[in-house]
Amino acid sequence: MSRIILAPMEGLADNILRDCLTLVGGIDLCVTEFIRVTDQLLPERVFYRLCPELYDGCKTPAGVPVRVQLLGSNPEALGLNAQRALALGSHGVDLNFGCPAKTVNRSQGGAILLREPKRIGNIVASVREAIGPKAWLSAKMRLGYEDTHLAVDNAQAIAAAGANELVVHARTKLQGYKPPAHWHLIKPIREAVNIPVIANGEVWNIDDYKQCQAISGCEDVMLGRGVVWRPDLAWSIRNPDHLYYQWQQVHPLVMGFCERVAMQVPARFQGARVKQWLALLGRVYPEAATTFAQIKRLKTLAEIETCLRAMTDLPQS
Ligand SMILES: Cc1cc2nc3c(=O)[nH]c(=O)nc-3n(C[C@H](O)[C@H](O)[C@H](O)COP(=O)(O)O)c2cc1C
Repeated sequence: MSRIILAPMEGLADNILRDCLTLVGGIDLCVTEFIRVTDQLLPERVFYRLCPELYDGCKTPAGVPVRVQLLGSNPEALGLNAQRALALGSHGVDLNFGCPAKTVNRSQGGAILLREPKRIGNIVASVREAIGPKAWLSAKMRLGYEDTHLAVDNAQAIAAAGANELVVHARTKLQGYKPPAHWHLIKPIREAVNIPVIANGEVWNIDDYKQCQAISGCEDVMLGRGVVWRPDLAWSIRNPDHLYYQWQQVHPLVMGFCERVAMQVPARFQGARVKQWLALLGRVYPEAATTFAQIKRLKTLAEIETCLRAMTDLPQS
Protein backbone atom coordinates (compact mmCIF):
# COMPACT_ATOMS: atom_id res chain seq x y z
CA MET A 1 0.00 0.00 0.00
CA SER A 2 1.20 3.50 -0.72
CA ARG A 3 2.52 5.48 2.23
CA ILE A 4 1.90 9.02 3.35
CA ILE A 5 4.78 10.61 5.23
CA LEU A 6 4.68 13.82 7.25
CA ALA A 7 7.50 16.10 6.07
CA PRO A 8 10.18 17.43 8.36
CA MET A 9 9.45 21.13 9.00
CA GLU A 10 11.86 22.98 11.22
CA GLY A 11 10.20 25.44 13.59
CA LEU A 12 6.75 24.13 12.69
CA ALA A 13 6.26 20.36 12.85
CA ASP A 14 7.62 19.63 16.31
CA ASN A 15 6.45 16.76 18.48
CA ILE A 16 3.33 18.71 19.54
CA LEU A 17 2.11 19.27 16.00
CA ARG A 18 3.16 15.73 15.03
CA ASP A 19 1.00 14.47 17.90
CA CYS A 20 -2.05 16.50 16.82
CA LEU A 21 -1.73 15.67 13.12
CA THR A 22 -1.11 11.95 13.57
CA LEU A 23 -4.13 11.75 15.90
CA VAL A 24 -6.33 12.70 12.95
CA GLY A 25 -4.98 9.69 11.06
CA GLY A 26 -3.71 8.74 7.62
CA ILE A 27 -0.03 9.46 8.30
CA ASP A 28 2.29 6.42 8.23
CA LEU A 29 5.57 7.98 9.28
CA CYS A 30 6.90 11.31 10.55
CA VAL A 31 10.35 12.77 9.99
CA THR A 32 11.72 15.16 12.61
CA GLU A 33 13.02 18.66 12.10
CA PHE A 34 16.70 18.43 11.17
CA ILE A 35 19.36 17.93 13.78
CA ARG A 36 22.43 19.85 12.67
CA VAL A 37 25.66 17.90 12.86
CA THR A 38 29.03 19.65 12.60
CA ASP A 39 32.04 17.55 13.51
CA GLN A 40 31.03 15.88 16.74
CA LEU A 41 28.83 13.28 18.28
CA LEU A 42 25.96 15.26 19.78
CA PRO A 43 24.80 14.65 23.34
CA GLU A 44 21.71 12.50 23.78
CA ARG A 45 19.74 15.47 25.10
CA VAL A 46 19.86 17.08 21.62
CA PHE A 47 18.10 14.04 20.17
CA TYR A 48 15.50 13.99 22.93
CA ARG A 49 14.84 17.72 22.53
CA LEU A 50 14.14 17.47 18.79
CA CYS A 51 12.48 14.09 19.06
CA PRO A 52 10.83 13.65 22.48
CA GLU A 53 9.03 10.63 21.01
CA LEU A 54 12.31 8.76 21.66
CA TYR A 55 11.11 8.46 25.27
CA ASP A 56 8.12 6.45 24.03
CA GLY A 57 9.41 3.97 21.49
CA CYS A 58 9.90 6.81 19.00
CA LYS A 59 6.20 6.83 18.15
CA THR A 60 3.70 9.65 18.43
CA PRO A 61 0.93 9.06 21.01
CA ALA A 62 -1.21 7.83 18.09
CA GLY A 63 1.41 5.14 17.43
CA VAL A 64 2.96 6.57 14.28
CA PRO A 65 6.73 5.93 13.99
CA VAL A 66 9.10 8.87 13.90
CA ARG A 67 12.44 9.05 12.09
CA VAL A 68 15.25 11.42 13.08
CA GLN A 69 16.66 13.63 10.34
CA LEU A 70 20.32 14.68 10.35
CA LEU A 71 21.84 17.55 8.42
CA GLY A 72 25.54 18.09 7.80
CA SER A 73 28.42 17.24 5.53
CA ASN A 74 30.99 15.56 7.76
CA PRO A 75 30.67 11.88 6.83
CA GLU A 76 32.20 10.50 10.04
CA ALA A 77 30.24 12.80 12.34
CA LEU A 78 27.02 12.00 10.50
CA GLY A 79 27.79 8.31 10.85
CA LEU A 80 28.33 8.60 14.60
CA ASN A 81 25.17 10.62 15.10
CA ALA A 82 23.18 8.23 12.95
CA GLN A 83 24.36 5.39 15.19
CA ARG A 84 23.23 7.37 18.22
CA ALA A 85 19.81 8.16 16.75
CA LEU A 86 19.25 4.48 16.06
CA ALA A 87 20.56 3.40 19.47
CA LEU A 88 18.05 5.76 21.09
CA GLY A 89 15.25 4.15 19.10
CA SER A 90 14.73 6.22 15.95
CA HIS A 91 12.85 4.39 13.19
CA GLY A 92 15.67 4.71 10.71
CA VAL A 93 17.69 7.81 9.92
CA ASP A 94 17.04 10.45 7.28
CA LEU A 95 19.74 12.63 5.71
CA ASN A 96 18.88 16.17 4.62
CA PHE A 97 20.21 17.24 1.21
CA GLY A 98 17.61 19.88 0.57
CA CYS A 99 17.76 22.64 3.16
CA PRO A 100 17.98 26.00 1.35
CA ALA A 101 18.94 28.14 4.40
CA LYS A 102 21.95 30.39 3.75
CA THR A 103 23.59 29.71 7.11
CA VAL A 104 23.24 25.96 6.60
CA ASN A 105 24.49 26.06 2.98
CA ARG A 106 27.42 28.31 3.94
CA SER A 107 28.66 25.59 6.27
CA GLN A 108 28.30 22.98 3.51
CA GLY A 109 25.03 21.46 4.71
CA GLY A 110 21.70 20.84 2.97
CA ALA A 111 21.05 21.73 -0.69
CA ILE A 112 24.55 23.06 -1.43
CA LEU A 113 25.75 19.44 -1.51
CA LEU A 114 23.57 18.82 -4.57
CA ARG A 115 26.34 20.42 -6.62
CA GLU A 116 28.56 17.44 -5.79
CA PRO A 117 26.97 14.03 -6.31
CA LYS A 118 30.22 12.28 -5.44
CA ARG A 119 30.39 14.02 -2.09
CA ILE A 120 26.77 13.13 -1.39
CA GLY A 121 27.56 9.52 -2.25
CA ASN A 122 30.50 9.54 0.18
CA ILE A 123 28.32 10.89 2.97
CA VAL A 124 25.61 8.29 2.43
CA ALA A 125 28.21 5.50 2.16
CA SER A 126 29.87 6.60 5.39
CA VAL A 127 26.56 6.64 7.26
CA ARG A 128 25.64 3.26 5.80
CA GLU A 129 28.95 1.83 6.97
CA ALA A 130 28.48 3.28 10.45
CA ILE A 131 24.96 1.92 10.94
CA GLY A 132 25.42 -1.46 9.30
CA PRO A 133 23.53 -3.10 6.46
CA LYS A 134 20.21 -3.65 8.27
CA ALA A 135 19.33 -0.20 9.64
CA TRP A 136 16.92 1.86 7.56
CA LEU A 137 18.50 4.84 5.84
CA SER A 138 16.61 7.43 3.84
CA ALA A 139 17.65 10.67 2.20
CA LYS A 140 15.75 13.77 1.15
CA MET A 141 16.91 15.90 -1.74
CA ARG A 142 15.73 18.72 -3.95
CA LEU A 143 16.03 18.60 -7.75
CA GLY A 144 19.27 20.53 -7.56
CA TYR A 145 20.87 23.73 -6.36
CA GLU A 146 20.74 26.25 -9.23
CA ASP A 147 19.26 23.88 -11.81
CA THR A 148 18.22 20.26 -12.22
CA HIS A 149 21.02 18.85 -14.38
CA LEU A 150 22.53 16.76 -11.55
CA ALA A 151 19.21 15.45 -10.20
CA VAL A 152 19.59 11.91 -11.54
CA ASP A 153 23.32 11.79 -10.67
CA ASN A 154 22.57 12.77 -7.10
CA ALA A 155 19.78 10.22 -6.76
CA GLN A 156 21.96 7.49 -8.23
CA ALA A 157 24.82 8.39 -5.89
CA ILE A 158 22.45 8.19 -2.93
CA ALA A 159 21.02 4.84 -4.03
CA ALA A 160 24.40 3.30 -4.93
CA ALA A 161 25.80 4.31 -1.54
CA GLY A 162 23.19 2.25 0.23
CA ALA A 163 20.15 4.39 1.04
CA ASN A 164 16.92 2.41 1.33
CA GLU A 165 14.65 5.15 0.02
CA LEU A 166 14.74 8.68 -1.30
CA VAL A 167 12.38 11.63 -0.92
CA VAL A 168 12.48 14.16 -3.74
CA HIS A 169 11.17 17.67 -3.11
CA ALA A 170 10.39 18.66 -6.68
CA ARG A 171 12.11 22.04 -6.74
CA THR A 172 15.65 23.36 -6.82
CA LYS A 173 17.18 25.34 -3.99
CA LEU A 174 16.84 28.51 -6.11
CA GLN A 175 13.14 27.83 -6.59
CA GLY A 176 12.75 27.85 -2.81
CA TYR A 177 9.08 27.26 -2.04
CA LYS A 178 7.72 28.99 -5.14
CA PRO A 179 4.96 27.02 -6.87
CA PRO A 180 4.75 24.90 -8.88
CA ALA A 181 6.53 21.77 -7.77
CA HIS A 182 7.93 19.97 -10.83
CA TRP A 183 6.50 16.49 -10.24
CA HIS A 184 7.35 15.44 -13.82
CA LEU A 185 11.06 15.78 -12.99
CA ILE A 186 10.75 13.14 -10.27
CA LYS A 187 9.82 10.50 -12.83
CA PRO A 188 13.26 10.18 -14.49
CA ILE A 189 14.79 9.97 -11.02
CA ARG A 190 12.42 7.20 -10.04
CA GLU A 191 13.23 5.34 -13.23
CA ALA A 192 16.98 5.71 -12.70
CA VAL A 193 17.23 4.18 -9.22
CA ASN A 194 16.27 0.83 -7.78
CA ILE A 195 15.02 2.13 -4.43
CA PRO A 196 11.58 3.57 -3.66
CA VAL A 197 11.26 7.27 -4.42
CA ILE A 198 8.81 9.39 -2.46
CA ALA A 199 7.38 12.48 -4.14
CA ASN A 200 7.10 15.77 -2.27
CA GLY A 201 5.95 19.33 -2.90
CA GLU A 202 2.74 21.34 -3.30
CA VAL A 203 0.21 18.68 -2.40
CA TRP A 204 -2.67 20.69 -0.94
CA ASN A 205 -5.69 18.49 -1.65
CA ILE A 206 -6.74 15.06 -2.88
CA ASP A 207 -6.55 16.06 -6.54
CA ASP A 208 -2.98 17.29 -6.11
CA TYR A 209 -2.13 13.99 -4.42
CA LYS A 210 -3.50 11.95 -7.31
CA GLN A 211 -1.83 14.18 -9.90
CA CYS A 212 1.45 14.04 -8.04
CA GLN A 213 1.34 10.25 -7.95
CA ALA A 214 0.37 9.98 -11.62
CA ILE A 215 2.91 12.49 -12.91
CA SER A 216 5.86 11.44 -10.74
CA GLY A 217 5.08 7.74 -11.00
CA CYS A 218 5.63 7.48 -7.22
CA GLU A 219 3.36 5.47 -4.95
CA ASP A 220 4.47 7.22 -1.77
CA VAL A 221 3.99 10.91 -1.11
CA MET A 222 5.39 13.18 1.59
CA LEU A 223 3.01 15.91 2.75
CA GLY A 224 4.34 19.12 4.24
CA ARG A 225 2.43 22.38 4.54
CA GLY A 226 -0.71 20.86 3.01
CA VAL A 227 -1.42 18.76 6.06
CA VAL A 228 -0.63 21.62 8.45
CA TRP A 229 -3.11 23.89 6.64
CA ARG A 230 -5.68 21.05 6.36
CA PRO A 231 -5.10 18.59 9.21
CA ASP A 232 -7.30 15.86 7.72
CA LEU A 233 -5.58 15.86 4.33
CA ALA A 234 -3.85 12.50 4.86
CA TRP A 235 -7.02 11.02 6.34
CA SER A 236 -9.08 12.28 3.38
CA ILE A 237 -6.63 10.72 0.94
CA ARG A 238 -6.95 7.39 2.73
CA ASN A 239 -10.73 7.55 3.07
CA PRO A 240 -12.44 8.67 -0.12
CA ASP A 241 -15.83 8.88 1.65
CA HIS A 242 -14.55 11.30 4.24
CA LEU A 243 -15.70 14.88 3.73
CA TYR A 244 -13.06 17.48 4.51
CA TYR A 245 -13.27 18.76 8.06
CA GLN A 246 -15.15 21.94 8.69
CA TRP A 247 -13.94 24.39 11.33
CA GLN A 248 -16.15 22.65 13.95
CA GLN A 249 -13.90 19.61 13.67
CA VAL A 250 -10.64 21.52 13.50
CA HIS A 251 -11.42 23.73 16.49
CA PRO A 252 -11.08 20.89 19.04
CA LEU A 253 -7.73 19.99 17.48
CA VAL A 254 -6.55 23.53 18.09
CA MET A 255 -7.81 23.38 21.69
CA GLY A 256 -5.89 20.11 22.14
CA PHE A 257 -2.84 21.76 20.63
CA CYS A 258 -3.16 24.58 23.22
CA GLU A 259 -3.26 22.03 26.05
CA ARG A 260 -0.07 20.38 24.83
CA VAL A 261 1.62 23.75 24.32
CA ALA A 262 0.70 24.71 27.91
CA MET A 263 2.38 21.56 29.21
CA GLN A 264 5.47 21.49 27.02
CA VAL A 265 6.45 24.97 25.86
CA PRO A 266 8.01 27.70 28.05
CA ALA A 267 5.40 30.38 28.86
CA ARG A 268 7.03 33.14 26.81
CA PHE A 269 6.79 31.13 23.58
CA GLN A 270 3.34 29.61 24.08
CA GLY A 271 1.28 32.35 22.41
CA ALA A 272 3.48 32.40 19.33
CA ARG A 273 3.15 28.64 18.82
CA VAL A 274 -0.65 28.80 18.79
CA LYS A 275 -0.73 31.92 16.63
CA GLN A 276 1.57 30.24 14.11
CA TRP A 277 -0.75 27.29 13.52
CA LEU A 278 -3.91 29.41 13.55
CA ALA A 279 -2.46 31.76 10.95
CA LEU A 280 -1.71 28.78 8.69
CA LEU A 281 -5.13 27.20 9.27
CA GLY A 282 -6.60 30.56 8.27
CA ARG A 283 -5.59 29.85 4.67
CA VAL A 284 -8.20 27.08 4.51
CA TYR A 285 -10.71 27.94 7.24
CA PRO A 286 -12.06 31.51 7.24
CA GLU A 287 -13.04 31.02 10.90
CA ALA A 288 -9.41 30.40 11.80
CA ALA A 289 -8.48 33.64 10.04
CA THR A 290 -11.15 35.49 12.00
CA THR A 291 -9.97 33.91 15.23
CA PHE A 292 -6.36 34.79 14.42
CA ALA A 293 -7.32 38.43 13.92
CA GLN A 294 -8.91 38.36 17.40
CA ILE A 295 -5.99 36.76 19.19
CA LYS A 296 -2.98 38.15 17.40
CA ARG A 297 -2.38 40.89 19.98
CA LEU A 298 -3.03 38.70 23.01
CA LYS A 299 0.02 37.79 25.01
CA THR A 300 -0.71 34.80 27.22
CA LEU A 301 -1.90 31.35 26.29
CA ALA A 302 -4.71 31.62 28.87
CA GLU A 303 -6.09 34.73 27.11
CA ILE A 304 -5.82 33.02 23.75
CA GLU A 305 -7.60 29.91 24.99
CA THR A 306 -10.44 32.00 26.44
CA CYS A 307 -10.85 33.77 23.13
CA LEU A 308 -10.67 30.49 21.20
CA ARG A 309 -13.38 28.98 23.38
CA ALA A 310 -15.63 31.97 22.75
CA MET A 311 -15.05 31.64 19.00
CA THR A 312 -16.66 28.19 18.87
CA ASP A 313 -19.96 30.00 18.46
CA LEU A 314 -18.94 31.62 15.17
CA PRO A 315 -21.15 30.99 12.17
CA GLN A 316 -19.68 28.01 10.34
CA SER A 317 -18.63 27.94 6.70
C1 LIG B 1 8.72 25.74 7.84
C2 LIG B 1 9.43 24.67 7.06
C3 LIG B 1 10.49 24.00 7.61
C4 LIG B 1 11.15 22.97 6.91
N1 LIG B 1 12.14 22.24 7.53
C5 LIG B 1 12.69 21.17 6.89
C6 LIG B 1 13.62 20.33 7.56
O1 LIG B 1 13.94 20.49 8.74
N2 LIG B 1 14.14 19.28 6.84
C7 LIG B 1 13.78 19.03 5.54
O2 LIG B 1 14.29 18.06 4.95
N3 LIG B 1 12.89 19.79 4.92
C8 LIG B 1 12.32 20.84 5.56
N4 LIG B 1 11.36 21.59 4.94
C9 LIG B 1 10.91 21.20 3.58
C10 LIG B 1 9.68 20.28 3.68
O3 LIG B 1 10.03 19.06 4.29
C11 LIG B 1 9.09 19.99 2.29
O4 LIG B 1 10.08 19.40 1.50
C12 LIG B 1 8.60 21.26 1.60
O5 LIG B 1 7.82 22.06 2.48
C13 LIG B 1 7.77 20.93 0.35
O6 LIG B 1 6.63 20.18 0.70
P1 LIG B 1 5.18 20.90 0.79
O7 LIG B 1 5.01 21.72 -0.47
O8 LIG B 1 4.23 19.75 0.92
O9 LIG B 1 5.20 21.80 2.00
C14 LIG B 1 10.72 22.63 5.61
C15 LIG B 1 9.65 23.32 5.04
C16 LIG B 1 8.99 24.33 5.74
C17 LIG B 1 7.82 25.02 5.11
